[in-house]
Amino acid sequence: MIEFRDVSKNFPDGTAAVTNFSLVAPSRKTTVLVGSSGSGKTTLLRMVNRMLEPTSGTVSIDGDDVAAVPPVALRRRIGYVMQNAGLLPHLTVADNIATVPRLLGETRRAARDRALELMDTVGLDTRMADRYPRQLSGGQQQRVGVARGLAADPNILLMDEPFGAVDPIVRAELQQELIRLQTELDKTVIFVTHDIDEAFLLGDQVVILAAGGRTLQVGSPSEIIENPADDFVRAFIGAERGKRALRIKQTPNGPVLVDPEGRTQGTLIEGGP
Ligand SMILES: Nc1ncnc2c1ncn2[C@@H]1O[C@H](COP(=O)(O)OP(=O)(O)OP(=O)(O)O)[C@@H](O)[C@H]1O
Ligand SMILES: [Mg+2]
Repeated sequence: MIEFRDVSKNFPDGTAAVTNFSLVAPSRKTTVLVGSSGSGKTTLLRMVNRMLEPTSGTVSIDGDDVAAVPPVALRRRIGYVMQNAGLLPHLTVADNIATVPRLLGETRRAARDRALELMDTVGLDTRMADRYPRQLSGGQQQRVGVARGLAADPNILLMDEPFGAVDPIVRAELQQELIRLQTELDKTVIFVTHDIDEAFLLGDQVVILAAGGRTLQVGSPSEIIENPADDFVRAFIGAERGKRALRIKQTPNGPVLVDPEGRTQGTLIEGGP
């Protein structure tokens, strides 16, 4: 469980990026932070792995304040997938993925084996291992970013708009891949997006944010759809939602089809029609 308690972050130039933010992200669930550009999403994520320190308030993992955990030890249990993949251009795919295992002291050989295994996990052809990021498509780069986030086998995965830079078809593919991965890996995920449809598809819990990290509503997708907190949320989740098609939602019993109100309309059988 990741808990933000009354967290604020002011940058030295006076920007109040986050003000009095509180949230519990339950273990082995996906919490999605959704909000417009500048609402403080990346700032919130980075306070979990101490890339940023809160100005006030605490972030804790399973009850332990992260401020008391050395950043290296912390990042061993927290995978981080950066906005726009964040690959190192001068390293091959395998070396990009292996960076963290190498930092953690694995041998070159073991780290490479791990990288190849992860390429397989995220659906990348291992023959691409020795290519450079510029020799990959946008979607392939995003997969490398996800593989790198998983490399240390962390319990917690922070994902910052990991599918932001790809076309809608590849994006849908990556989303389904993440849903599949999550049923296998069972991580505690905090996922950031500004796409409300992506938030409802991937989130067990969805947090709608306004400027300054102000929480407008927290709930399951169906709770938010059925009962939007105010007119802003209603507008944000889209007045046209009622006319949208069925979507796939992950449940403990496998993927199911739900209607726009979050009601189950059928199950999806693996390999079925
Ligand atoms: N190092 C910094 N110094 C000053 N202000 C900053 C810094 N980093 C972020 N900010 C500001 O803090 C606010 C929140 O930024 P943040 O990056 O968390 O937003 P975001 O929700 O991730 O946006 P986006 O969707 O565009 O990625 C913005 O107003 C931003 O300009
Ligand atoms: Mg951001």
